Amino acid sequence: MREAFSNRPTTVADYLTILRRRKWIVLVPPVAAAVAAFLLSLGQSPLYRASADVLVNRASVVTAITGVDPSGGDPTRYLATQASIARDPVLAKRISDASGIPGMTPDRVLAESGVTPSTDSDIVTITVEDRGRAAATRLANTYAAQFTEFTKERATTSVDDALSSLEVRLKSLAAHGQGTSALYAALLQQQGQLATVGRLMAGIASVLQPADHATKTRPRPKRNAILGFLFGAVVGLALAFLAEALDRRVRDEHEIDGVLGLALLARIPAPPRALQKTNDLVMLREPSGPQAETFRKLRTSIEFVNPDGAARTIVVTSAMEQEGKSTTIANLAVALARGGRRVAVVDLDLRRPYLSQLFHVGGRPGITDVALKHAALSDALRSIGLATGIQEMASLNGQGAPQNGRTASEGMLQLLPAGTLPPSAGEMLQDQRLIGVLDELATRFDVVLIDAPPLLAFGDTMTLSSHVDAIFALTRLSRVQRPILHEFGRQLQNCQAKLLGYVLTGVEHSESYRYMYEAYEYYARGTPHDKERV
Ligand SMILES: Nc1ncnc2c1ncn2[C@@H]1O[C@H](COP(=O)(O)OP(=O)(O)OP(=O)(O)O)[C@@H](O)[C@H]1O
Ligand SMILES: [Mg+2]
Repeated sequence: MREAFSNRPTTVADYLTILRRRKWIVLVPPVAAAVAAFLLSLGQSPLYRASADVLVNRASVVTAITGVDPSGGDPTRYLATQASIARDPVLAKRISDASGIPGMTPDRVLAESGVTPSTDSDIVTITVEDRGRAAATRLANTYAAQFTEFTKERATTSVDDALSSLEVRLKSLAAHGQGTSALYAALLQQQGQLATVGRLMAGIASVLQPADHATKTRPRPKRNAILGFLFGAVVGLALAFLAEALDRRVRDEHEIDGVLGLALLARIPAPPRALQKTNDLVMLREPSGPQAETFRKLRTSIEFVNPDGAARTIVVTSAMEQEGKSTTIANLAVALARGGRRVAVVDLDLRRPYLSQLFHVGGRPGITDVALKHAALSDALRSIGLATGIQEMASLNGQGAPQNGRTASEGMLQLLPAGTLPPSAGEMLQDQRLIGVLDELATRFDVVLIDAPPLLAFGDTMTLSSHVDAIFALTRLSRVQRPILHEFGRQLQNCQAKLLGYVLTGVEHSESYRYMYEAYEYYARGTPHDKERV
């Protein structure tokens, strides 16, 4: 359980680190969604919206005569009823006929419109959405007018019917000479009252606010692009944290400490891009730069854990490929040689030899050719000039360059490349003749550094471990998955040589590294005193 959550983010800085690491997952979805929403919106046909308000009085025949509201005083319910009535297909037919809009049908009227009762006033709002700006306004106004008319008709029909029958009665009484009777007078009075009610009912609905313009509801590319961006941002963030949760790569150096149980010898950031491209070594090209300092620290650590120099043949190994073994061992070799040691660096990665490229020398003859007696050891060993950096340092000190690439303290570096690659690298590494070459080197040099393939991929390093004095492990941060790291730790313990510690590669350029860089810049510029001296 602890293992699964060991790299769980806890601080704001942790979350920011995750966002920086997953920047593409975070950035691509919002940008893609914004662009997609923008382009899709542009392809949409336009739509316009217009609305008109109709005032509906809550009067009825009953209310007009008795003064009692039959709706029980619930205006919301009354207006909701009116809004439902407004969707009557008969009314829709009238609207489509009256609109005069070509192609307008009752179904289209209902599809393009909506009627909403207000909750805080006696108003129903008629809203129309149409592809034409003018058509939307016209349809909304026609709807409002026809609805008003329709409501009036519904309200006054019964009063009109009653008035008509009263009229008939009155005429009949008058025709029979009863025009002065009490009944006639009573009926006449009723007629007057009904006429008043009729006038009241006629005013039940009226257009309060006609539609005077229509607004465009689509396309709205900018708004949609913003919404798309926000949606994409949420998706991007979710994906980033999901990817982080599912990612089993080890990013925490304390976790590596715990799993390997070894001393940390050095933390080494990635080499500068320019040097990566040209396959150049920091220790040769930028010997007084800040990254070279990390290799000098590694040299010091190795000397510290191997104080008497008893371990002469030292192998580097890592769990997986491409973790920086060859680069590290080559730079370490230069650092040790600069420190006055006689160093041989041997490429025993017989599967992907790389050291000869890093030192820019030919790959043959090499150790395999020497082992098979196809070449002499002295012919296969290549002297590596240490002068480049020394010259720089010497010129900084105002001194001449040392001769033949040898420092004052007589350090030197020789490379033994892999040579002709054998068909079976594993068997070659068990060959006594090859082991003999290593033993020979150990007698001639103070330190023999050996580059080897990844421990978990091949048995080569395990085989080598019984013929060398020491091993140092190397792990690249954010590259190795947790189970692989555990397996690496287990297999390291099975190696027969002494474990010196481990080197962490791929570390971020930390604060201390930045400080070193600034200091380097400062000293590279020189002090005013230096300038005077020059
Ligand atoms: N300290 C480092 N931090 C991060 N990346 C590094 C470091 N050193 C080297 N690299 C980069 O890692 C890649 C592999 O480097 P290198 O060949 O030295 O690794 P390797 O472990 O020897 O690989 P292989 O297993 O293929 O032999 C190169 O692109 C190199 O620039
Ligand atoms: Mg390598």
